[in-house]
Amino acid sequence: MAEILREHVLPKDRFVQPGPNALIRCVGLEKWYGGVHALVSVDFHAESGEIVGLVGDNGAGKSTLIKVLSGAHPPDAGKIYIDGDEVQLRTPKEAMARGIETIYQYTAMVPAMSIARNMFIGREPLSRFKIGPFGLMDRRTMVDHATRSLSNIDLTERSPDTPVEELSGGQRQSVAIARAMYFKSKLLILDEPTNHLSVKETNKVLDYVLSLKEQGIGSIFISHNMHHIFPIADRIVAMARGEKIADIMKSDTSIDELTELIV
Ligand SMILES: Nc1ncnc2c1ncn2[C@@H]1O[C@H](COP(=O)(O)OP(=O)(O)OP(=O)(O)O)[C@@H](O)[C@H]1O
Ligand SMILES: [Mg+2]
Repeated sequence: MAEILREHVLPKDRFVQPGPNALIRCVGLEKWYGGVHALVSVDFHAESGEIVGLVGDNGAGKSTLIKVLSGAHPPDAGKIYIDGDEVQLRTPKEAMARGIETIYQYTAMVPAMSIARNMFIGREPLSRFKIGPFGLMDRRTMVDHATRSLSNIDLTERSPDTPVEELSGGQRQSVAIARAMYFKSKLLILDEPTNHLSVKETNKVLDYVLSLKEQGIGSIFISHNMHHIFPIADRIVAMARGEKIADIMKSDTSIDELTELIV
């Protein structure tokens, strides 16, 4: 199996290279979890407005790469550049401040909190009134913005006060996407957003990713389902055992070729 996979590893000089204005770029990322080498000298990039499909088998290192790029985990080595500036991302908030919004594989939302609160987690608008050193959250502003954002994503039947735990998986993804739209992110990272979604919900998420692209907002989209990624992606990056093994424009490959590469 390893030999067959090896035969399909593209020579690195055939990987797509970043342009001079790449939105995000990393070079030589390394990450160890104890004895597990989760990222092996990974170079990766996304151009602005580009949809990059990130594929690979279980444990390939996809989520780890995303966690490093979004400031959730520090790399052990390597460099990250956003808009050409070298950055040290210590928290997801720092990545958000630079326009990188991430929907993680398992925890996109705080279920017991309302849609409105979830939209503004960590970035709550403060009202003019203060109690001691703490500003009060401007609830009205949050609800107004959430209401408008919900209409953007066709969730008009839901009040912004609805707890997220009452939403379906697809609706939760929609709220996360509305959040990215609201904060005018430059890049939305989605880790397995279509897992456990109905066909209808999946199509909705795929449509949003495409409509974000029309607004100039790119995405890194992780999925096990090549049939979800392939139609929307501009480029496909494949990983195996912590290494990037392919980086290819969609127009230069096919679903069959990629499926053979990663299984
Ligand atoms: N927090 C952690 N602690 C220890 N090991 C980890 C941790 N996170 C990931 N790993 C290990 O790192 C490797 C890469 O995991 P990662 O979650 O990045 O894979 P993945 O490509 O996202 O897989 P999947 O498709 O199953 O989500 C795996 O061997 C995994 O067990
Ligand atoms: Mg993962």
